[in-house]
Amino acid sequence: MTPPDADLLLESFSRGEPLLPPRTAYVNVVKRCNAGCGYCADWTAPRDPRLDPPLEQLTYLFGELRRLGVGDLVVSGGEPFLRRDLPAVLEAALGCGFEIRVISNGSLITRDHVRALVGLGITKIGISIDSLVPDRLMAIRGLKATRVRRTIEILAGDERTRPRVSLYVTITRANLDDLIPLADYARRLGITVQYQPVHFAGTGLDDHILTHLWPAEPDLARLDGIIAELVRGARDGTLPINSRPDFLQQIPRFFRDRTFHPERCTVAYTDVVIDQDLNLRPCWSMPAVASLAQPGFDLVQIWRAPEMRAVREEIKQDRCPGCLFSCHMNKPHISLNKARS
Ligand SMILES: C[S@@+](CC[C@H](N)C(=O)[O-])C[C@H]1O[C@@H](n2cnc3c(N)ncnc32)[C@H](O)[C@@H]1O
Ligand code: SF4
Ligand code: SF4
Repeated sequence: MTPPDADLLLESFSRGEPLLPPRTAYVNVVKRCNAGCGYCADWTAPRDPRLDPPLEQLTYLFGELRRLGVGDLVVSGGEPFLRRDLPAVLEAALGCGFEIRVISNGSLITRDHVRALVGLGITKIGISIDSLVPDRLMAIRGLKATRVRRTIEILAGDERTRPRVSLYVTITRANLDDLIPLADYARRLGITVQYQPVHFAGTGLDDHILTHLWPAEPDLARLDGIIAELVRGARDGTLPINSRPDFLQQIPRFFRDRTFHPERCTVAYTDVVIDQDLNLRPCWSMPAVASLAQPGFDLVQIWRAPEMRAVREEIKQDRCPGCLFSCHMNKPHISLNKARS
C-alpha cells in the first residue's frame, strides 16, 4: 500500500468512516457444495440450483461493487463450479473491470473449464487442498486426492497460458504432517501455497472442530517447529509461500488462545464481504448488516449507513469477536505486530 493510502486508512479508522474505497469484495456465488469438510457447513445446504443467486442479481451486485470503487473480486462459495453458468457469472464480473480470483475445492474442474477460464482472462485461482494423502483428504474434506491433484496439475500445466494458482491449506490437527509436503508440491509445480488455521465459523460446528480438528498441546509443540520451517522457507525463498511470515507465526498462538485480535483491524473499510445469502457482513466473523438479495439497493449508501458506522465503532472499541481469517489477515495493511489475545 502506498503511504497516502495508509494514512487515509488510519484516518478512516479513527473517524469510524471510510475515506477511501474498499479494495476487495468477496462474493459467494453459490451456497451448495459437493464436498464434506468437517469444518464447514456449506455441504449441508440444499442442493437445488434454483436456490443459487440468479445471474441478474449478481450482475446488479457487481455493478454496485464497481460503483463503490472495489477493484479485486474473490468469487467463492459453496463450490462455485457447481454453477453451470459460472462462465457467465465471471463474464459479468469481468465486464465491470474487476481483477478476479476464483476459489474452488478443485474436484469438479475439467480441461474445458480451464480453457474457458483462460479464454475469459481469469488470472488467479485458488484450489483448497489439505493433504496429498488420499485417505487423509477423504477424511478431512470428503474428496478424492487424485481428482483434486489432477485439477491442480492441469491448471499448473501450461506456464504461458495458465492462471496464477495458489493452494489453500486449512491447518487442523489432522494434517500437520502435510503442511511441508504441500509446500514442496507447490514448489515442484511452480505455483504458490497459503495457509490458514481452522477456525470457528459460527456454523454450529464448534464442538466438532474442537473435539476432532483442533490441535492439542502436543500437536502445538510440533506445529511450532513446522511453522518455523515454513517461515524459514518463505523468508529465504526456498518454499513458494504466499502467506505473510508474521501471519504464519501467529497461528500456533491462535490455536492456544482460540481467538485473535490484530492491533487495529481495518477490514470493515477495505473488504466488502457478501455471504451465500447475499448479505453484507463487516467481515467473515461478524453478523450480517444488510441484505443485498433484491436488486435496486444502493451499495454506496449502505456502505456508509449508520448500521455500518455502528459496527465500525464497535470494532474500534475492540468489541468485535476476533478471528484469524487469512483472507482478511494475510494482507499487508493489517497490523499484526502487536497482536494480543
Ligand atoms: C468456504 S471455501 C469455498 C470455496 C471452495 N468450496 C473451497 O473449498 O475452496 C473457501 C476456503 O475456506 C476454507 N474454510 C472453510 N471453513 C473453514 C474453517 N472453519 N476454518 C478455516 N478455513 C475454512 C476452506 O478450506 C477453503 O480453503
Ligand atoms: S470448505 Fe469449500 S469444499 Fe469444503 S464444504 Fe465448505 S464450501 Fe465445500
Ligand atoms: S472479527 Fe476479525 S476480521 Fe472482523 S473486525 Fe474483528 S479482527 Fe477484524
